[in-house]
Amino acid sequence: MTNNRKIIMDCDPGHDDALAIILAASKISPLTIEAITTVSGNVDVEKNTLNALKICDMIGLDETPVAKGADRPLFKEREVAEEIHGETGLDGPVLPEKPTKELAEVHAVDVIIEKVLNSNQNVTLVATGPLTNVALAIRKDPRIVPKIEEIVLMGGGTFGNWTPAAEFNIYVDAEAAKIVFDSDIPIAMFGLDVTHQAIANRDIMNDFKAIGNPVAQFAADLLDFFLTTNEEVFGLEGGPVHDACTIAYLIQPSLFDLKHVRVDIETKGEFTYGMTSVDMLGVTGKQANVTFAQNLNRDGFWELFNDSLKSYG
Ligand code: BDR
Ligand code: CA
Repeated sequence: MTNNRKIIMDCDPGHDDALAIILAASKISPLTIEAITTVSGNVDVEKNTLNALKICDMIGLDETPVAKGADRPLFKEREVAEEIHGETGLDGPVLPEKPTKELAEVHAVDVIIEKVLNSNQNVTLVATGPLTNVALAIRKDPRIVPKIEEIVLMGGGTFGNWTPAAEFNIYVDAEAAKIVFDSDIPIAMFGLDVTHQAIANRDIMNDFKAIGNPVAQFAADLLDFFLTTNEEVFGLEGGPVHDACTIAYLIQPSLFDLKHVRVDIETKGEFTYGMTSVDMLGVTGKQANVTFAQNLNRDGFWELFNDSLKSYG
């Protein structure tokens, strides 16, 4: 696999989604962002979409289409995470009320299908919100399946942050996650086990500030809010920049220890709905369907992040 991949970022920005976009769009990134598609998750899809447009304005991502997607999970009621991301979904940084960038007039699911089918090379989907759009695209046009190089997602783990068993992105739409994990598309999974090794503290925030360009200041402002809510809600010493792990992997895979395992999605359990059942010891005898990120080179990760922010010069 090459690391100058074409990617579609399906997301619910969201502070850590925003940091993932900043990393992907930086001058040191070999990735080409074909589209940003939004989904209901951290807040409703209208707000997530406005945030995506504003992020593009902030970092000068003028050419990349932004398309709005599913406004609720496949079967369940919508569930949001305002306690982490605030009422707007991106509380903290001062942003203009209205974005100047315009929304694409095509549904996110159709953008995913069209970009994948019409690309001259396989496309990687980076999914950092609930998997509703990705599941809908697979169901709507299965011809995309062999043309997706990999789905690189933030979700799940061997413990939960929304219930004791389930992580937010998977819990919000476990039925969609099941479609994706059962799709036979190669999956790289960045769950809580590894994203909790990417915890930004105030020293990291101050390093960002010291870089002294507007995008680095934006990243620091994002962290300022996100660190505090993660400390208050989860008692962590900082905020895990979960979603940015997906892009760090695509830019510099050697930062991660990876293991091929079987992962199945629980959709029925009373206490375990939305759990990712990670078969670490191969006890199911089932074929591995996931490249599971276990460990992160923390220093290398933050070095990459700082370099990417400096590149906005
Ligand atoms: C995931 O949930 C969201 O709140 C974050 O953006 C991240 O994608 C972490 O559980
Ligand atoms: Ca997210």
